[in-house]
Amino acid sequence: MAKSISLTRYLVEQQRVDGLIPAQLRLLLEVVARACKSISHSVNKGALGEVLGSAGSENVQGEIQKKLDIIANEVLIEANEWGGHLAAMASEEMDEIYQVPNRYPRGEYLLLFDPLDGSSNIDVNVSIGTIFSVLLKPEGVDVLEKDFLQAGHKQVAAGYCVYGPQTTLVLTVGHGVAMFTLDREQGSFMLTQEDLRIPEDTQEFAINMSNMRHWDAPTKRYIDECLQGREGPRGKDFNMRWIASMVADVHRILTRGGVFMYPWDKREPGKAGKLRLMYEANPMAWLVEQAGGAATDGQQRILDIAPEQLHQRVSVVLGSKNEVDRVTQYYAQTAAK
Ligand code: AHG
Ligand code: MN
Ligand code: MN
Repeated sequence: MAKSISLTRYLVEQQRVDGLIPAQLRLLLEVVARACKSISHSVNKGALGEVLGSAGSENVQGEIQKKLDIIANEVLIEANEWGGHLAAMASEEMDEIYQVPNRYPRGEYLLLFDPLDGSSNIDVNVSIGTIFSVLLKPEGVDVLEKDFLQAGHKQVAAGYCVYGPQTTLVLTVGHGVAMFTLDREQGSFMLTQEDLRIPEDTQEFAINMSNMRHWDAPTKRYIDECLQGREGPRGKDFNMRWIASMVADVHRILTRGGVFMYPWDKREPGKAGKLRLMYEANPMAWLVEQAGGAATDGQQRILDIAPEQLHQRVSVVLGSKNEVDRVTQYYAQTAAK
């Protein structure tokens, strides 16, 4: 029988045997996983735990917060603030960075998260998740917001946890992507797949088609060609999926390939896109690249974007490499005209 490996054992081996992660980062990842376990329990309780519905407040992005957005944010902060592994945190649900209080020791890492991704799906019992990204704190005693503004290729760990039919944690520390499934009887995440690979080609795309009339020409062209199927220039039929939880859509792509797009559109022309660079696009882009896929904003590699603001938005095209390259080429051709 194959040996079963818990997340704890996996991380200890990464630290001790392979020397791939320092002890503090191992602790950080274990704590994040523990927080995700707790969020998973709240999600599972649903109406019984009185966790559904709106909290009646707005976040910095002007979005109505759901109760679970706030609960998940608090769980992540409380789990992470006292362990000594972090200097500060940043979240979709907090306008400003959260410094580790003075009563606790401070570590050298910065943690960024989207505590609850796919909020519109909470109340309808569809998959949602948590996304996280880890950076090293630059030199200096105090932590400022600008210390978080590092390009995605500087991440030292990234991952997400999807709360679906199973609770699954997906993780990279820069040496491939590993997947862990929560065993509720043991209370542990167990390694269920190592070295995930995204096929380079696909016949499946994910985009919110209701925004079609607002798209720019390269996105329109790409999707239009997919929709023409076998009779069109692509010479093959495409399937479409849109879950409206980035976590769940990316999880499908890491599992069986596909391309995910949330491009800039004309609804809010002043915004670069809908998704946030620091705690949605960057961690997902790194996971996808680590699995052999690609991630761009249409023009450049997401991981090379120099961030200017904590909550900045970005266009996202990610997934199977050949499709992402094609979309990016369409953008380059339009720019060259
Ligand atoms: P969040 O719930 O953290 O605000 O993120 C929701 C995001 C993302 O998960 C998803 O891909 C997208 O918003 C869905 O947007 P539409 O409702 O416009 O399709
Ligand atoms: Mn989100
Ligand atoms: Mn969110």
